[in-house]
Amino acid sequence: AQTVTRDDDGVVSVGGVGVGRIAEEFGTPAYVLDEADFRARARAWRTAFGEDADVFYAGKAFLSRAVVRWLAEEGLNLDVCSGGELATALSGGMPAERIAFHGNNKSVAEITRAVEAGVGRIVLDSFQEIARVAHVAQSLGTRQKVQIRITVGVEAHTHEFIATAHEDQKFGIPLAGGQAAEAVRRALQLDGLELIGIHSHIGSQIFDMSGFEVAAHRVVGLLKDIRDEHGVELPEIDLGGGLGIAYTSDDDPREPHEIAKALTEIVGRECEAARLRTPRISVEPGRAIVGPTAFTLYEVGTIKPLEGLRTYVSVDGGMSDNIRTALYDAEYSVALVSRVSDAEPMLARVVGKHCESGDIVVRDTFLPADLAPGDLIAVPATGAYCRSMASNYNHVLRPPVVAVQDGEARVIVRRETEEDLLRLDVG
Ligand code: LLP
Repeated sequence: AQTVTRDDDGVVSVGGVGVGRIAEEFGTPAYVLDEADFRARARAWRTAFGEDADVFYAGKAFLSRAVVRWLAEEGLNLDVCSGGELATALSGGMPAERIAFHGNNKSVAEITRAVEAGVGRIVLDSFQEIARVAHVAQSLGTRQKVQIRITVGVEAHTHEFIATAHEDQKFGIPLAGGQAAEAVRRALQLDGLELIGIHSHIGSQIFDMSGFEVAAHRVVGLLKDIRDEHGVELPEIDLGGGLGIAYTSDDDPREPHEIAKALTEIVGRECEAARLRTPRISVEPGRAIVGPTAFTLYEVGTIKPLEGLRTYVSVDGGMSDNIRTALYDAEYSVALVSRVSDAEPMLARVVGKHCESGDIVVRDTFLPADLAPGDLIAVPATGAYCRSMASNYNHVLRPPVVAVQDGEARVIVRRETEEDLLRLDVG
């Protein structure tokens, strides 16, 4: 967990740095990321899966050059899903062979860049892409390692927008109706491709292991069919990301070693039964590594008590730095972190400064009734999909990411400025 402490005056410190100092030095809002916690979580995944498996951190959760360096040092690989993420990965020094390239609509330019860079694998998402990647690789005189992403037909119990293995959605090639088998047939025939495995990602913020187990079972089933039809045993399978984290105290997340144990056991058992060589397993956690490592530090502004309803507490950010509440009805908690208060709790809603009533950061919470403008409050577990999904809506400037460790704080992604905004406006 984050190394959070609170002194006698109620001032919270993380990584040995007080929130007052962070606000003064870097301003608010700011994402405050605990480097030691990030590294510890990355290492826990690495250790849980051991030497016979690979952990690809999903860059979409949050990516910066510093993060890429930490991952490279901790022995993780990296999953990217756009040219921009690929550029960040390479620029941060991740060796190309440790990068996997994802996406349901990679452009030819992106594919070319990835093949030229020598990425370790491209995950093929459609029949058209099988041909496209083969063509690019062949015209560059190389063979590209690829996996095929299939949809196994699992209904993951999570928000509709982030479930990905049921059939009626845009990702992957359905296992149903022999489509995945046909994709394998085509990929095996093309000179530009070296098919190394099958990929499945069932969704995100999942607590129930059974979806992963069903997916593993079906992926191994396909490996067996491939062996029976082609006499080829594919050496790898990837079971995606999706492990849930605790946003509030109601959530009870699984640990990396639990998922490692469950997946390794089921794959091992089923391969033995099918007399298949056990493939090398890889996984792609994003949220579970970075999510809990950061909180967003806000300064309280206008406070508006609505008689008989609740008190609206406005902060200096909002849906531009955390869209998840508005988009997925995500639940967060919040705490006063700049002082102690013995005041009665009041029913509150933390809202942003945007011109929309849906601009909510924390829908229902209790904050001390003596809360005042200038207080600092923190929303935990904002490391994943907050900075990476941040926008400039209302021309609000995107906050910095401040990394803390051993009493030191440093900016790893700086605050956006009005100059940054205007630089793009060339009219
Ligand atoms: N692998 C693939 C192929 C993925 O599509 C994703 C997430 C991951 C791995 C990482 O999943 P994680 O371990 O982070 O759950 N913006 C949404 C989440 C969308 C996830 C998209 N794909 C959110 O804020 O909850």
